[in-house]
Amino acid sequence: MNILVTGGAGFIGSFLVDELIKRKHKVVIYDVLDNQVHLGKIPYYLNKKAEFVRADIRDYKLLKKTILKYKIEVIYHLAAKVGVGQSQYQIKEYIDVNVGGTSNLLDIIVNNKTTVKKLIVASSMSTYGEGMYYCRKCNKEFQPDLRSKEQLDKCLWEVLCPECKTVVEAKPTTETAKQVCHSIYALSKKVQEEMCLIIGKTYNIPTVALRFFNVFGPRQSLSNPYTGVAAIFMSRIKNNKPPIIFEDGLQTRDFVYVTDVVQSCILALKSQADYKVYNVGCGKPVGILDVAKTIAKVYGKDIKPEIRNKYRKGDIRHCFADITKIKKELGFKPKISFEDGIKKLVLWAKTTEAKDFYEQAEKELQQKGLL
Ligand SMILES: NC(=O)c1ccc[n+]([C@@H]2O[C@H](COP(=O)([O-])OP(=O)(O)OC[C@H]3O[C@@H](n4cnc5c(N)ncnc54)[C@H](O)[C@@H]3O)[C@@H](O)[C@H]2O)c1
Ligand SMILES: [Zn+2]
Repeated sequence: MNILVTGGAGFIGSFLVDELIKRKHKVVIYDVLDNQVHLGKIPYYLNKKAEFVRADIRDYKLLKKTILKYKIEVIYHLAAKVGVGQSQYQIKEYIDVNVGGTSNLLDIIVNNKTTVKKLIVASSMSTYGEGMYYCRKCNKEFQPDLRSKEQLDKCLWEVLCPECKTVVEAKPTTETAKQVCHSIYALSKKVQEEMCLIIGKTYNIPTVALRFFNVFGPRQSLSNPYTGVAAIFMSRIKNNKPPIIFEDGLQTRDFVYVTDVVQSCILALKSQADYKVYNVGCGKPVGILDVAKTIAKVYGKDIKPEIRNKYRKGDIRHCFADITKIKKELGFKPKISFEDGIKKLVLWAKTTEAKDFYEQAEKELQQKGLL
């Protein structure tokens, strides 16, 4: 098939491109090579067997020309600005690229005689806000609001039951959870997902939204301090600096290895997936402090993470995926454990340049009042 991967020069997109080429598809990468991610260079891993169109998703004419010229049948839409904190002050840029870019794509598909017959869009766990929790005392499952400023100012990090005020336990989050966005980035992903599904359903173009959890692995930009906690910690450790931990480090996320995410993208081609939304994670929570410690240990560096006991506005405490739906309906099975994934990440990072812009990014967040 003729397949377009927007954002195909990025971290996840590049692994997807490799897999599609391996499967004998004709692949076109459409990517602007965002400076923050690629530092002005063409990535060394860009697959030479793919066509590469270096262009902006906001460029309507070029995007249209590409889709028509290559008779694109399947589109994986991954091009996006991806920093949660940064999206809170680069509001126009994030909405322009993520929402505006998606509107271009859909407008072109709908208003031209294209050959597009499937659309798969990268959504995000960030659209949930807090994950699901369970209160033993009240025997109730619920999805809380963000923790209050008063609570966080007292360094009370865990989520409390709104009724009995005891600490509650995190549960796997299902696709049916509410999408309560706390950042422009999250909102832009939610809008992207809905736009694609609305237009897909209206025009009978099978569309699938994949809600990726915390994806990690080689090729994630080690010089982009705005996204990807494992890559940020990796960059700090490689540069002999301590990873910075917000709160107490016991907050958890669901880390899914990049090739497992690619597996979900391939499975999404199945017709059973059409017009549906799936979580893509490992289904297991990992503590943020553990991520930092594991990377340092595997790297072989005696660096202790710096626990700040401070919070970032809008951060959630726990969210990990319930992956029952994608397992059952599409046969998804994560293959790479967290520890094995970190080993692969470290092996790669040792051979890669990592400019540590973390402090600069933190200063920026501070100046904007987000820390
Ligand atoms: N990495 C994660 O943990 C994660 C989690 C949830 C969702 N996602 C989503 O997955 C997708 C891929 O993310 P990634 O982690 O590979 O990020 P990435 O930054 O490595 O890749 C994104 C790519 O999009 C390109 N891009 C940015 N702006 C563009 C524009 N205006 N026009 C064309 N191309 C543009 C960049 O150059 C980059 O190559 C994104 O849509 C992201 O929102 C990622
Ligand atoms: Zn309770």
